[in-house]
Amino acid sequence: MASSFIIPVTVFLATVIIAVNGCSPSDRAALLSFKAALKEPYHGIFNSWSGENCCLNWYGISCDSTSGRVTDINLRGESEDPIFEKSGRSGYMTGKISPEICKIDRLTSLIIADWKAITGDIPPCVTSLSNLRILDLIGNQIAGKIPSTIGNLQSLSVLNLADNSISGEIPASIADLGSLKHLDLSNNVLTGSIPANFGKLQMLSRALLNRNKLTGSIPVSISNIYRLADLDLSMNRLTGSVPSELGKMQVLSTLNLDSNLLSGQIPSSLLSNSGLGILNLSRNGFSGTIPDVFGPKSYFMALDMSFNNLNGRVPGSLLSAKYIGHLDLSHNHLCGSIPLGLGSPFDHLEASSFSNNDCLCGNPLKTC
Ligand SMILES: *[C@@H]1O[C@H](CO)[C@@H](O)[C@H](O)[C@H]1NC(C)=O
Repeated sequence: MASSFIIPVTVFLATVIIAVNGCSPSDRAALLSFKAALKEPYHGIFNSWSGENCCLNWYGISCDSTSGRVTDINLRGESEDPIFEKSGRSGYMTGKISPEICKIDRLTSLIIADWKAITGDIPPCVTSLSNLRILDLIGNQIAGKIPSTIGNLQSLSVLNLADNSISGEIPASIADLGSLKHLDLSNNVLTGSIPANFGKLQMLSRALLNRNKLTGSIPVSISNIYRLADLDLSMNRLTGSVPSELGKMQVLSTLNLDSNLLSGQIPSSLLSNSGLGILNLSRNGFSGTIPDVFGPKSYFMALDMSFNNLNGRVPGSLLSAKYIGHLDLSHNHLCGSIPLGLGSPFDHLEASSFSNNDCLCGNPLKTC
């Protein structure tokens, strides 16, 4: 009598427990296909990827506890995890990122970072993962293009594809990423120009596009990104002049434009912007004089204008600056006496800051 009651209840309870704790079988199958396309020879991080429940102790996997759907793939080859400390070497993996991961359609984080030797492309279907907030594939050998439909990822807040071999142009749709805060595409082989409507990225606070092969000019629209604090466009092939609007940005604190083919005058707005703490304009074709617009609010940790075609004098207003940490005006065509006293409020400034000009003189160079 009793067993006919107990057995159905037990079966019912067991079903509930599996439903609450177990991972979705389709997510599990997708993870196993993902694992099969990779080879991780040194640390055995995939050894834990066995058994039915992918939500329980699978390395780098997190799930939503009620639905059993996989929400995070977080695999970092350079982390503090004891798995790396024990072996004394950082992560290494070969193989490719399987498009099967696109079936894990509740994914919010996809982090496959610093494995050094993962090749292949970014599966274009990742742009269908509508809940994705973090896509971080830094430090691999991923090639191919950025999917043209990247702009579909309306929840994406971090896009980090730095230190790979990604080629082609930055898709125009990138400007549609309305939630994007951090963009890092540095150290790839991207060509073409920065999309003209890049300034649509209103949430962006950090944009690193340095060390690519980008051409064209700096879009004026960038100056509309009022949260942008850090802009690095250095080591590309950008041409044209620097939009003076960049100097009016409220929270911009680091601007690196060095090692490009930029020309024209240095906008005075850049040098008078009191929020800008690091400005590197080195190794371009800037010409004309250095705007004499420094003031008591000027506070530069680093100000590098070396290796350009600047002429005229060292601006006297530099003396009124609150602080100039590292100044480099070397390798230009400056002339005349270095403002008297530039050695004393800034007595850390050395001759090398002024060397290789046409006819500069005075402390810290030879007397006039
Ligand atoms: C500015 O950029 C140049 C060239 O890319 C680099 O050599 C230099 O160290 C940078 N200056 C500072 C202060 O970081």
